[in-house]
Amino acid sequence: MLDLFSRLQPSFQLCPGVFILREFAGPVEQQLLCDMETILAAAPLRHMHTPGGRRLSVAMTNCGQLGWVSDAQGYRYAAFDPQTGVSWPSIPLSFLELAQQAAQAANFSEFMPDSCLINCYQPGAKMTMHQDKDESDLSAPIVSVSLGLPATFKMGGGQRTGPVHKVMLSHGDVMVWGNEARLAYHGVLPLKEGVHPLVGRRRINLTFRKAR
Ligand code: SIN
Ligand code: FE2
Repeated sequence: MLDLFSRLQPSFQLCPGVFILREFAGPVEQQLLCDMETILAAAPLRHMHTPGGRRLSVAMTNCGQLGWVSDAQGYRYAAFDPQTGVSWPSIPLSFLELAQQAAQAANFSEFMPDSCLINCYQPGAKMTMHQDKDESDLSAPIVSVSLGLPATFKMGGGQRTGPVHKVMLSHGDVMVWGNEARLAYHGVLPLKEGVHPLVGRRRINLTFRKAR
């Protein structure tokens, strides 16, 4: 069931270990987008390929000490951007403060992310069901910030197939998950056509993780 009524609540628990903080990033939207452009200038968005050779429809880049990458060698965290050969840009203060405040609001203390994956969806782009399991410390939560066009996020359980909670994530919404949900399968339905007044014809997702 699509969680139609959830927008009436400022924040709530979608299922055990999964928290939705509505419009949590709203007050810092301009700063986030401005800082993101600086990152994109140094580490451009690109379509990575799965180890099997499939091109990901979501364009990605990273900031932080480590960046998530995928290519013929597999999925992994890398200290250097394989495209430029240099370190990823560092996580800007606006990103870090937001991620830490969101984690705290969801009752995860002392979140210290060392990696931020920037996902850019254009209409039609999607993310198939997967687990975030390339991180060594699974006690830290995942903090996921949505900007721009709304998308339907699917949060499942320990199996790739099976029942999912569907929740619409809109501009400014922050989702935090961990503990019993840390390894839950999740994905994003194909982005619908639209233009966001601030972000344009795209959805941006910032995913903060403690990779090491
Ligand atoms: C991801 O799972 O890496 C992205 C989730 C999202 O775009 O909301
Ligand atoms: Fe993920």
